[in-house]
Amino acid sequence: MGVGTKVLVITTMAICLISSAAYASEGTATFYTPPYVPSACNGYKNDGVMIAAASYAIWNNGAVCNKSFRVKCTGATNQGTPHPCRGGSVLVKIVDLCPAGCQATIDLSQEAFSQIANPDAGKIKIEFNQLREMGIEMRIFMMISIVLCLCSAAVHAAQGNAVYYKPPYSHSACYGNQDNGPMVTGVSDALWRNGQACGKRYRVRCIRGANQAPHPCKPGKSVVVKVVDYCRQPCNGILNLSQDAFNEIADLDAGKVIVEYNP
Ligand SMILES: *[C@@H]1O[C@H](CO)[C@@H](O)[C@H](O)[C@H]1NC(C)=O
Ligand SMILES: *[C@@H]1O[C@H](CO)[C@@H](O)[C@H](O)[C@H]1NC(C)=O
Repeated sequence: MGVGTKVLVITTMAICLISSAAYASEGTATFYTPPYVPSACNGYKNDGVMIAAASYAIWNNGAVCNKSFRVKCTGATNQGTPHPCRGGSVLVKIVDLCPAGCQATIDLSQEAFSQIANPDAGKIKIEFNQLREMGIEMRIFMMISIVLCLCSAAVHAAQGNAVYYKPPYSHSACYGNQDNGPMVTGVSDALWRNGQACGKRYRVRCIRGANQAPHPCKPGKSVVVKVVDYCRQPCNGILNLSQDAFNEIADLDAGKVIVEYNP
């Protein structure tokens, strides 16, 4: 992935995260006690106890039914219980309407309220936000982006020593006596993976010398090589390039250089 694409992906992810964080609103919460059915959203269906009733401030004609809210206690609303908050937050599902005359923005179940605050307070200040239900496309996009970023970061980090060997290149662990041309390489155990590496192509770039040879790298040069061979231990490099491939990116006199390689 190019740097431009990566920046775009990271920016998109940051915006997604920030916009869901910025969604938090402030309000107040009270609580109500069982029975919790029937509810305005779901009639006699049992929705458990981590539930809440929405006041008209957020009811939105019932559109808020079944939506999940994260609610956090932020402070007291009265002198009776000056420090009601217990820390943390609670996740509740809206299943009911707290009708006109409702004393708070959200009327939590007693169980939900007591997770975040002392019920003696009766009413608290809260910060709440509706959990964004990301569309499935958005979720897939985010997951693919994250995977791509991780993969390309891993790929870009790959560095190691490269050595070279002289022709003929035609006898190889992967292909027997088949000729694969001059742009070939052997790989050591780190990349060999029981022969699964055979046929893989790497773009290889020299980044600096691995010994006393001054300035062995040919600036701006890279070469694509095909894996045809296994470099048996003790292999002096992670890549054992053909002499032709090595010569494309570095001075042969160096014998060994540090390279960056990616698929
Ligand atoms: C809420 O979700 C339940 C399923 O969990 C569904 O049966 C019910 O119709 C939904 N209620 C509303 C108002 O969308
Ligand atoms: C590089 O590969 C060749 C051919 O397989 C092998 O003979 C040679 O020993 C390898 N070089 C090193 C330094 O491992």
